Amino acid sequence: KMIEKGEYKHFLHKEIHEQPKAIADTILGRLKFKGQNIWLEGIDTQKLKAINRVLIVACGTSFHSAMIGKQIIEEKAKIPVEIELASEFRYRNCILDKNTLVIGISQSGETADTIGALNSAKSRGMALLAICNAIDSAIARLCEDDAGIFYTRAGPEISVASTKAFTTQVAALHLLALTFAYLNKSLHKGEILKEIEKLKTIPKVIESVLACEKDIAKVAQNVASADHMLFLGRGILYPIALEGALKMKEISYLHAEGYAAGEMKHGPIALIDENMPVVVLAAKGQGYEKIVSNLEEVKARNGRVLVLCDKNDKKLIKRSDMNFLLPFCDSTILPFVAAIPLQLFAYHVALIRGTDVDQPRNLAKSVTVE
Ligand code: G6P
Repeated sequence: KMIEKGEYKHFLHKEIHEQPKAIADTILGRLKFKGQNIWLEGIDTQKLKAINRVLIVACGTSFHSAMIGKQIIEEKAKIPVEIELASEFRYRNCILDKNTLVIGISQSGETADTIGALNSAKSRGMALLAICNAIDSAIARLCEDDAGIFYTRAGPEISVASTKAFTTQVAALHLLALTFAYLNKSLHKGEILKEIEKLKTIPKVIESVLACEKDIAKVAQNVASADHMLFLGRGILYPIALEGALKMKEISYLHAEGYAAGEMKHGPIALIDENMPVVVLAAKGQGYEKIVSNLEEVKARNGRVLVLCDKNDKKLIKRSDMNFLLPFCDSTILPFVAAIPLQLFAYHVALIRGTDVDQPRNLAKSVTVE
């Protein structure tokens, strides 16, 4: 079937706006209880029972969802999670034991390094699970007779830069974390059902952020001529900062770096001046007080600060030069909602800079060679 852009000028823009539906499709009806047993679509949950350690391998944007997944699984299920870039893992003799589950995350299911990493784990007898968007892809086939495949239901992603695949991967990781949490009794059924109800509110909250696109486009106008940009975050907003910076460099060719805000003092602070806009991602519960002081450090060096924060956070809004305002969201919903303004931001900067948004130079949708 031909996929059309419809009312949109670019697939990227269309796919950003498809996220409410993509996330709803990925969540709804996929995790259920059957008597005392938990059922996650596509997954052999019996195989997850003995798991006491998880290793996630992925590349690019999918690696950023792995970083978020680590935090969610550790928090909900209290299982230690390691994450490793597939291109590193495959050539390293990583320590594995039979109670470790290896998870591969991939939109396309065809990324050579992720396939290589999963094959290397398989040859060592490890249980494999895939989070994948493309049906019947190589990675899906590798895992189907093993612990299984959880398909994200983002629908076809055409734009080279990943958007809806990212947020649906994070949704998938949430459902997986809840499954682990039930199996090892970190959470009981009632708590899990409550979490699922929360996840169901995400599409609506995202709609309200998408509705602020005009404000985001204005911020883009003010900074599109910069040569460098820094994105800072803590906690669950740290991988979101990395993803925000990745989107920016991929589609606008503006050099952007994502950093854990606490590490700023160990390097990037040397770069700050009035010519380098700094995007500061802040939320209560994600090292809030610390990130406020990071913001002050940037301002003290004449940096321009673009703050992403709660729309009622008057203190931060007052201290910012420009802002991306979010509706109230708790930590479950936060990564989904915070990702959206940064995707739109990169898109509008790219439009102003006149790059090829859907097909950025030198990049491929799926990297099937090493
Ligand atoms: C390429 C794409 C990225 C993607 C990465 C991993 O670099 O341009 O958007 O995140 O591959 O792809 P995968 O299909 O494995 O998620």
